Amino acid sequence: MDKIFGCWKVSNWFYRHKMRPIGALGRFIMRVVFSADVPYNLTIGKGTRFPHCALGSLFHPAVVIGENCVILHGVTVGGRSGRHGLPVIGNNVWIGAHAIILGNVKIGDNAIIGAGSVVLHDVEANAVVAGNPARFIKWNNAGKGEILPPPM
Ligand SMILES: CC(C)(COP(=O)(O)OP(=O)(O)OC[C@H]1O[C@@H](n2cnc3c(N)ncnc32)[C@H](O)[C@@H]1OP(=O)(O)O)[C@@H](O)C(=O)NCCC(=O)NCCS
Repeated sequence: MDKIFGCWKVSNWFYRHKMRPIGALGRFIMRVVFSADVPYNLTIGKGTRFPHCALGSLFHPAVVIGENCVILHGVTVGGRSGRHGLPVIGNNVWIGAHAIILGNVKIGDNAIIGAGSVVLHDVEANAVVAGNPARFIKWNNAGKGEILPPPM
């Protein structure tokens, strides 16, 4: 099992079973070992992977991450200063290194977020977006002959 997903799953289990201090210990260990803030009360769907151990990544606890996503390192997913709402990430979403996703945005299923992108608006399902601010660059045709991005 993916190291970060496994650590989060254990600390989330303790949190859900009213043993929050042990869940918090798991969060602390991930911070020390991977410099990653992956809160025990975050929602992460099954099959989601962090191929580079989420190094330097940070997630707001109320963020929702779907199933079978791939999240590279240095990623930030959280609030947008002074604005209400937090990102909801769909299933099979691929998030490139150092992407930043902020505020009340929905990332559709099978979307790809390019490295270093700053996402401030909803991303349609199957869209590939990149840049700061992130803009649509193409459709993700994975499953229709084209495979994007290369498997990790
Ligand atoms: C978004 C991504 C998947 C698109 O890949 P692609 O389909 O091969 O896209 P292309 O390289 O053909 O680029 C299409 C256009 O988007 C631009 N673009 C691609 N990625 C970009 C990015 N991350 N930020 C800004 N613009 C980007 C290209 O410059 C190009 O623009 P142009 O047509 O004006 O020249 C890829 O560029 C990416 O960012 N992958 C993440 C890789 C990563 O995180 N690696 C970490 C390794 S540890």
